[in-house]
Amino acid sequence: RVGGVISAHLRFGFKIHGYDDSTSVRSARFSTCATTMKLQQILYSQGFGTRRQCMVHIAHGNVVVAGETQRDPDADIAVDGLVVTVNGEDWPFHERAYLMFNKPAGYECSHRPKHWPAIYELLPMPLRLRPSKSAVDGVQAIGRLDQDTTGLLVLSDDGQFIHRMASPKHHVPKVYQVTTRHAVDDAQVRALLTGVVLNDDPEQVAAAACEVISDTHIALTLMEGKYHQVKRMLAAVGNRVEALHRSQMGGLVLDANLKAGEWRWLTADDLALVKTPIL
Ligand code: URA
Repeated sequence: RVGGVISAHLRFGFKIHGYDDSTSVRSARFSTCATTMKLQQILYSQGFGTRRQCMVHIAHGNVVVAGETQRDPDADIAVDGLVVTVNGEDWPFHERAYLMFNKPAGYECSHRPKHWPAIYELLPMPLRLRPSKSAVDGVQAIGRLDQDTTGLLVLSDDGQFIHRMASPKHHVPKVYQVTTRHAVDDAQVRALLTGVVLNDDPEQVAAAACEVISDTHIALTLMEGKYHQVKRMLAAVGNRVEALHRSQMGGLVLDANLKAGEWRWLTADDLALVKTPIL
């Protein structure tokens, strides 16, 4: 596919440098042309180290494009659908990274963890090194889960997207599978739905939905993401969380094929689902 696109570009004798989804490079006039980037810039943007390190990868013959070792750092490569092979590993080009991750217990969602290893250690190096305009390079989790909470995290390197999704204004509903120490009774469900007062927080918080799955298992939907919110809400109704698992954000459900600690790229459909209300 890449080879095909490159030859089209040679045939028509024009080229477009840089990659910006918002430009109309796919306009009718250029319909046979694809967006291209210099090979070195591609590697850098995808997180294969500093510009210099990317040069070295290429010079050492460690980079394969469309089945051929590519030694020219300035080669123009079409990025649509590109899979570049670096040190034998295939890497699909993504202008921005949007991931789904199944968080295992025993990991902190911080780049500077205090007591447990960071979830970021479970990601491949390029995802941790992708250059970014923010203070920290690489992908970042949207919202945090406690060390002992498992399940769905969305990670991205798109600052605007992270900001939008994490903002309370956006009201992305999150569904938690809660295993409780004591059986959940009707009064507790009612209190969770009408609102409880959390310590040091004057405003009541209420669950948007509470489905009783079994005596000690409820699915709780929350619109906010306050610190330890599920644990504090269950404590406020006189119960206690034994295990906590996030199964859904907006309309996006954790992929059942992802084992704890595994991740995958989000598709455009997945991304639309994150923003979809579920209630
Ligand atoms: N509520 C909690 O108490 N912990 C989490 O990790 C997420 C929500």
